[in-house]
Amino acid sequence: MEKGLLEVLSSYQGIRSELIPILQDIQSNFGYLPEEIIEDVSKFTRVPVSEIYGVASFYSQFRFTPKGNNHIMVCTGTACHVKGADKIVEGIERHLNIEEGGVTSDKEYSLESVGCLGCCALAPCATVNDDIKSNITIKDIKKIFRQKKK
Ligand code: FES
Repeated sequence: MEKGLLEVLSSYQGIRSELIPILQDIQSNFGYLPEEIIEDVSKFTRVPVSEIYGVASFYSQFRFTPKGNNHIMVCTGTACHVKGADKIVEGIERHLNIEEGGVTSDKEYSLESVGCLGCCALAPCATVNDDIKSNITIKDIKKIFRQKKK
């Protein structure tokens, strides 16, 4: 068992009701839920692997793949949706040649669509790491990623 995982699990007893907090701690330590770690969690909690995937898939906070160096979160909440957030997601997917939820082959970018980012007056908006991008248009996509791409 990986050292980081041992540290996470050391504060738990291994009971079923701890599953979500355990997954949250793993995600915050590893940045995502690695497959081999889910198997270890299954042994520790005695919750079947398939059930852990079922629970983790239900909550959008959990990821099964690592993030890219630059993590893009496009808001698809109501205000952003009304202002064309879906087109922004599609535009980024095309520009970076990835699907929502995926990572570019050079691991430079990962893309995720999320609920309200809390800046509805700036819709449609997104974040790239901690940087908020507001009133995004399709034209902005090339500009935003030209600045970041090496
Ligand atoms: S709906 Fe997009 S920031 Fe609130």
